[in-house]
Amino acid sequence: MSSYDAHFRVWRGDAAGGSLGDFTVEVNEGEVVLDIIHRLQATQAPDLAVRWNCKAGKCGSCSAEINGRPRLMCMTRMSVFDRAETVTVTPMRAFPVVRDLVTDVSFNYAKAREVPSFVPPADLKPGEYRMRQEDVGRSQEFRKCIECFLCQDTCHVVRDHEENKEAFAGPRFLMRVAELDMHPLDAASEVGLDRKSTAQDDHGLGYCNITKCCTEVCPENIRITDNALIPLKERAADRKYDPLIWLGKTIRRRRSG
Ligand code: SF4
Ligand code: SF4
Ligand code: FES
Repeated sequence: MSSYDAHFRVWRGDAAGGSLGDFTVEVNEGEVVLDIIHRLQATQAPDLAVRWNCKAGKCGSCSAEINGRPRLMCMTRMSVFDRAETVTVTPMRAFPVVRDLVTDVSFNYAKAREVPSFVPPADLKPGEYRMRQEDVGRSQEFRKCIECFLCQDTCHVVRDHEENKEAFAGPRFLMRVAELDMHPLDAASEVGLDRKSTAQDDHGLGYCNITKCCTEVCPENIRITDNALIPLKERAADRKYDPLIWLGKTIRRRRSG
Protein backbone atom coordinates (compact mmCIF):
# COMPACT_ATOMS: atom_id res chain seq x y z
CA MET A 1 0.00 0.00 0.00
CA SER A 2 1.41 3.38 -0.93
CA SER A 3 0.85 6.63 0.92
CA TYR A 4 -2.30 8.58 0.22
CA ASP A 5 -4.07 11.67 1.47
CA ALA A 6 -7.11 11.08 3.67
CA HIS A 7 -9.88 13.48 4.47
CA PHE A 8 -10.36 13.91 8.22
CA ARG A 9 -12.98 15.84 10.14
CA VAL A 10 -11.93 16.46 13.74
CA TRP A 11 -13.97 18.12 16.45
CA ARG A 12 -12.33 21.26 17.84
CA GLY A 13 -13.70 23.18 20.78
CA ASP A 14 -14.25 23.17 24.52
CA ALA A 15 -17.05 23.04 27.09
CA ALA A 16 -18.55 26.21 25.64
CA GLY A 17 -18.97 24.66 22.17
CA GLY A 18 -17.11 23.84 18.99
CA SER A 19 -17.30 22.49 15.48
CA LEU A 20 -15.76 19.99 13.08
CA GLY A 21 -12.59 21.08 11.30
CA ASP A 22 -11.66 19.67 7.87
CA PHE A 23 -8.12 18.42 7.22
CA THR A 24 -6.30 16.53 4.51
CA VAL A 25 -3.59 14.37 6.06
CA GLU A 26 -1.05 11.88 4.72
CA VAL A 27 -1.57 8.21 5.60
CA ASN A 28 1.16 5.57 5.35
CA GLU A 29 1.02 1.80 5.36
CA GLY A 30 0.17 0.19 8.71
CA GLU A 31 -0.96 3.40 10.39
CA VAL A 32 -3.78 3.78 12.88
CA VAL A 33 -6.09 6.74 13.50
CA LEU A 34 -3.90 7.96 16.38
CA ASP A 35 -0.91 8.24 13.97
CA ILE A 36 -2.98 10.50 11.75
CA ILE A 37 -4.06 12.64 14.70
CA HIS A 38 -0.40 12.96 15.73
CA ARG A 39 0.56 13.95 12.16
CA LEU A 40 -2.21 16.52 12.23
CA GLN A 41 -0.76 17.94 15.46
CA ALA A 42 2.75 17.96 14.01
CA THR A 43 1.88 19.60 10.71
CA GLN A 44 -1.38 21.55 10.85
CA ALA A 45 -2.97 21.83 14.30
CA PRO A 46 -0.26 22.08 16.99
CA ASP A 47 -2.81 22.97 19.67
CA LEU A 48 -5.09 19.95 19.02
CA ALA A 49 -5.76 18.28 22.40
CA VAL A 50 -5.70 14.48 22.49
CA ARG A 51 -5.12 12.07 25.36
CA TRP A 52 -2.98 8.97 24.81
CA ASN A 53 -0.20 7.04 26.52
CA CYS A 54 0.67 3.55 25.32
CA LYS A 55 -0.34 3.38 21.64
CA ALA A 56 -0.79 -0.34 22.27
CA GLY A 57 -4.43 -0.70 23.36
CA LYS A 58 -3.49 -1.11 27.00
CA CYS A 59 -3.75 2.23 28.83
CA GLY A 60 -7.34 3.05 27.82
CA SER A 61 -6.56 6.76 27.28
CA CYS A 62 -7.19 7.32 23.57
CA SER A 63 -10.94 6.63 23.56
CA ALA A 64 -12.93 8.69 21.09
CA GLU A 65 -15.69 8.26 18.53
CA ILE A 66 -14.62 7.43 15.00
CA ASN A 67 -17.37 7.83 12.42
CA GLY A 68 -19.77 7.82 15.38
CA ARG A 69 -18.53 4.56 16.90
CA PRO A 70 -16.76 4.51 20.28
CA ARG A 71 -13.24 3.13 19.65
CA LEU A 72 -9.62 3.33 20.72
CA MET A 73 -7.77 5.58 18.25
CA CYS A 74 -4.57 3.55 18.63
CA MET A 75 -6.28 0.28 17.74
CA THR A 76 -8.26 1.49 14.76
CA ARG A 77 -6.32 0.76 11.59
CA MET A 78 -6.67 3.17 8.70
CA SER A 79 -6.98 0.14 6.42
CA VAL A 80 -10.54 -0.46 7.70
CA PHE A 81 -11.67 2.71 5.92
CA ASP A 82 -12.12 3.24 2.25
CA ARG A 83 -9.46 5.68 0.96
CA ALA A 84 -12.13 8.02 -0.33
CA GLU A 85 -14.07 7.93 2.94
CA THR A 86 -14.07 10.92 5.30
CA VAL A 87 -12.93 9.84 8.75
CA THR A 88 -14.69 11.84 11.48
CA VAL A 89 -13.15 11.89 14.95
CA THR A 90 -15.14 13.32 17.85
CA PRO A 91 -14.77 13.17 21.65
CA MET A 92 -16.74 10.62 23.69
CA ARG A 93 -20.27 11.93 23.79
CA ALA A 94 -21.34 10.75 27.24
CA PHE A 95 -18.75 12.83 29.11
CA PRO A 96 -18.15 16.59 29.28
CA VAL A 97 -15.55 17.94 26.85
CA VAL A 98 -12.41 19.48 28.30
CA ARG A 99 -10.92 20.42 24.93
CA ASP A 100 -10.99 18.94 21.41
CA LEU A 101 -10.79 15.14 21.78
CA VAL A 102 -10.20 15.17 25.54
CA THR A 103 -13.17 14.51 27.82
CA ASP A 104 -13.59 14.71 31.57
CA VAL A 105 -14.12 11.08 32.65
CA SER A 106 -14.36 11.78 36.38
CA PHE A 107 -17.94 10.39 36.38
CA ASN A 108 -16.29 6.97 36.10
CA TYR A 109 -13.91 7.55 39.00
CA ALA A 110 -16.84 8.64 41.18
CA LYS A 111 -18.73 5.45 40.25
CA ALA A 112 -15.64 3.32 40.96
CA ARG A 113 -15.46 4.74 44.46
CA GLU A 114 -19.09 3.79 45.11
CA VAL A 115 -18.40 0.05 44.72
CA PRO A 116 -17.32 -1.39 48.08
CA SER A 117 -14.03 -3.23 47.65
CA PHE A 118 -13.27 -6.92 48.22
CA VAL A 119 -13.89 -8.00 51.82
CA PRO A 120 -11.15 -10.45 52.86
CA PRO A 121 -12.28 -13.57 54.74
CA ALA A 122 -11.69 -13.07 58.48
CA ASP A 123 -10.35 -16.58 59.11
CA LEU A 124 -7.71 -16.59 56.36
CA LYS A 125 -4.48 -14.65 55.96
CA PRO A 126 -3.16 -13.54 52.56
CA GLY A 127 -1.25 -16.55 51.22
CA GLU A 128 -3.84 -18.94 52.62
CA TYR A 129 -6.45 -18.08 50.01
CA ARG A 130 -7.35 -21.06 47.83
CA MET A 131 -9.65 -20.85 44.82
CA ARG A 132 -10.73 -23.29 42.16
CA GLN A 133 -9.31 -22.58 38.70
CA GLU A 134 -12.86 -22.23 37.41
CA ASP A 135 -13.51 -19.34 39.83
CA VAL A 136 -10.20 -17.68 38.97
CA GLY A 137 -11.01 -17.97 35.26
CA ARG A 138 -14.40 -16.34 35.70
CA SER A 139 -13.10 -13.12 37.22
CA GLN A 140 -9.96 -13.13 35.05
CA GLU A 141 -12.05 -12.10 32.06
CA PHE A 142 -13.35 -9.02 33.89
CA ARG A 143 -9.86 -8.08 35.05
CA LYS A 144 -8.75 -7.60 31.45
CA CYS A 145 -10.59 -4.25 31.61
CA ILE A 146 -8.31 -1.35 30.63
CA GLU A 147 -10.79 1.30 31.86
CA CYS A 148 -11.14 2.94 28.48
CA PHE A 149 -14.78 3.73 29.39
CA LEU A 150 -15.98 3.06 25.85
CA CYS A 151 -18.70 0.81 27.29
CA GLN A 152 -19.76 3.62 29.62
CA ASP A 153 -19.82 6.02 26.68
CA THR A 154 -21.92 3.77 24.48
CA CYS A 155 -24.54 2.68 27.02
CA HIS A 156 -27.81 4.37 26.05
CA VAL A 157 -28.85 4.66 29.71
CA VAL A 158 -26.42 7.56 30.17
CA ARG A 159 -25.35 8.45 26.61
CA ASP A 160 -28.30 10.74 26.03
CA HIS A 161 -29.63 10.89 29.57
CA GLU A 162 -27.55 13.00 31.87
CA GLU A 163 -30.31 12.65 34.45
CA ASN A 164 -29.61 8.89 34.81
CA LYS A 165 -25.97 9.34 35.74
CA GLU A 166 -26.59 9.70 39.44
CA ALA A 167 -28.48 6.41 39.76
CA PHE A 168 -26.59 4.27 37.23
CA ALA A 169 -23.03 3.02 37.63
CA GLY A 170 -22.71 1.86 34.01
CA PRO A 171 -21.54 -1.48 32.58
CA ARG A 172 -17.91 -1.21 33.70
CA PHE A 173 -18.83 -0.84 37.38
CA LEU A 174 -21.80 -3.21 37.37
CA MET A 175 -19.27 -5.70 36.00
CA ARG A 176 -17.06 -4.93 39.00
CA VAL A 177 -19.99 -5.61 41.35
CA ALA A 178 -20.65 -8.89 39.49
CA GLU A 179 -16.99 -9.87 39.77
CA LEU A 180 -16.97 -9.32 43.52
CA ASP A 181 -20.32 -11.04 43.97
CA MET A 182 -18.98 -14.11 42.11
CA HIS A 183 -15.76 -14.15 44.13
CA PRO A 184 -15.86 -17.25 46.32
CA LEU A 185 -13.73 -15.65 49.05
CA ASP A 186 -15.50 -12.29 49.23
CA ALA A 187 -16.88 -12.03 52.78
CA ALA A 188 -19.13 -9.04 52.10
CA SER A 189 -22.22 -10.77 53.50
CA GLU A 190 -20.38 -11.38 56.79
CA VAL A 191 -20.07 -7.64 57.30
CA GLY A 192 -23.71 -7.04 56.38
CA LEU A 193 -23.11 -6.04 52.76
CA ASP A 194 -25.44 -7.63 50.21
CA ARG A 195 -23.88 -6.97 46.81
CA LYS A 196 -26.98 -8.22 44.96
CA SER A 197 -29.24 -5.70 46.69
CA THR A 198 -26.76 -2.86 46.32
CA ALA A 199 -26.43 -3.68 42.60
CA GLN A 200 -30.14 -2.93 42.30
CA ASP A 201 -30.55 -0.20 44.87
CA ASP A 202 -27.25 1.72 44.67
CA HIS A 203 -25.78 0.97 41.23
CA GLY A 204 -28.93 0.96 39.06
CA LEU A 205 -28.78 -2.60 37.68
CA GLY A 206 -32.47 -2.36 36.79
CA TYR A 207 -31.75 0.37 34.21
CA CYS A 208 -29.80 -2.11 32.08
CA ASN A 209 -32.03 -3.76 29.50
CA ILE A 210 -29.27 -6.04 28.19
CA THR A 211 -28.95 -4.48 24.74
CA LYS A 212 -25.29 -5.65 24.64
CA CYS A 213 -24.07 -2.38 23.07
CA CYS A 214 -21.40 -2.20 25.80
CA THR A 215 -20.07 -5.63 24.83
CA GLU A 216 -19.90 -4.67 21.17
CA VAL A 217 -17.48 -1.79 21.76
CA CYS A 218 -15.20 -3.39 24.37
CA PRO A 219 -11.65 -3.48 22.95
CA GLU A 220 -10.76 -6.33 25.32
CA ASN A 221 -13.68 -8.41 24.00
CA ILE A 222 -15.04 -8.87 27.50
CA ARG A 223 -18.52 -10.36 27.32
CA ILE A 224 -19.84 -7.74 29.73
CA THR A 225 -23.53 -8.43 29.21
CA ASP A 226 -23.52 -12.22 28.93
CA ASN A 227 -20.93 -12.98 31.59
CA ALA A 228 -21.41 -10.18 34.13
CA LEU A 229 -24.67 -8.26 33.80
CA ILE A 230 -27.10 -11.07 32.99
CA PRO A 231 -25.71 -13.41 35.69
CA LEU A 232 -25.85 -10.54 38.21
CA LYS A 233 -29.46 -9.83 37.23
CA GLU A 234 -30.30 -13.51 37.61
CA ARG A 235 -28.74 -13.74 41.04
CA ALA A 236 -30.39 -10.50 42.17
CA ALA A 237 -33.78 -11.85 40.96
CA ASP A 238 -33.22 -15.25 42.62
CA ARG A 239 -32.51 -13.44 45.82
CA LYS A 240 -35.65 -11.33 45.56
CA TYR A 241 -37.88 -14.34 44.95
CA ASP A 242 -36.10 -16.80 47.25
CA PRO A 243 -38.90 -17.86 49.69
CA LEU A 244 -36.51 -18.19 52.65
CA ILE A 245 -35.09 -14.71 52.12
CA TRP A 246 -38.64 -13.35 51.66
CA LEU A 247 -39.71 -15.02 54.93
CA GLY A 248 -36.65 -13.69 56.78
CA LYS A 249 -37.30 -10.15 55.57
CA THR A 250 -41.01 -10.37 56.47
CA ILE A 251 -40.25 -11.59 59.99
CA ARG A 252 -37.67 -8.84 60.46
CA ARG A 253 -40.17 -6.22 59.23
CA ARG A 254 -42.87 -7.52 61.61
CA ARG A 255 -40.47 -7.53 64.54
CA SER A 256 -39.32 -4.02 63.87
CA GLY A 257 -42.87 -2.82 63.08
S1 SF4 B 1 -26.34 -4.15 28.09
FE1 SF4 B 1 -26.98 -2.82 29.77
S2 SF4 B 1 -25.11 -1.78 30.43
FE2 SF4 B 1 -24.71 -2.68 28.37
S3 SF4 B 1 -25.18 -1.02 26.93
FE3 SF4 B 1 -27.06 -2.24 27.16
S4 SF4 B 1 -28.22 -1.21 28.81
FE4 SF4 B 1 -26.09 -0.45 28.90
S1 SF4 C 1 -15.18 -3.24 30.09
FE1 SF4 C 1 -14.19 -3.04 28.08
S2 SF4 C 1 -15.11 -1.19 27.18
FE2 SF4 C 1 -15.57 -1.15 29.36
S3 SF4 C 1 -13.97 0.09 30.30
FE3 SF4 C 1 -13.30 -2.07 30.42
S4 SF4 C 1 -12.10 -2.44 28.58
FE4 SF4 C 1 -13.22 -0.54 28.23
S1 FES D 1 -2.98 5.03 23.68
FE1 FES D 1 -3.22 3.52 25.23
S2 FES D 1 -5.05 2.49 24.67
FE2 FES D 1 -4.67 3.85 23.01
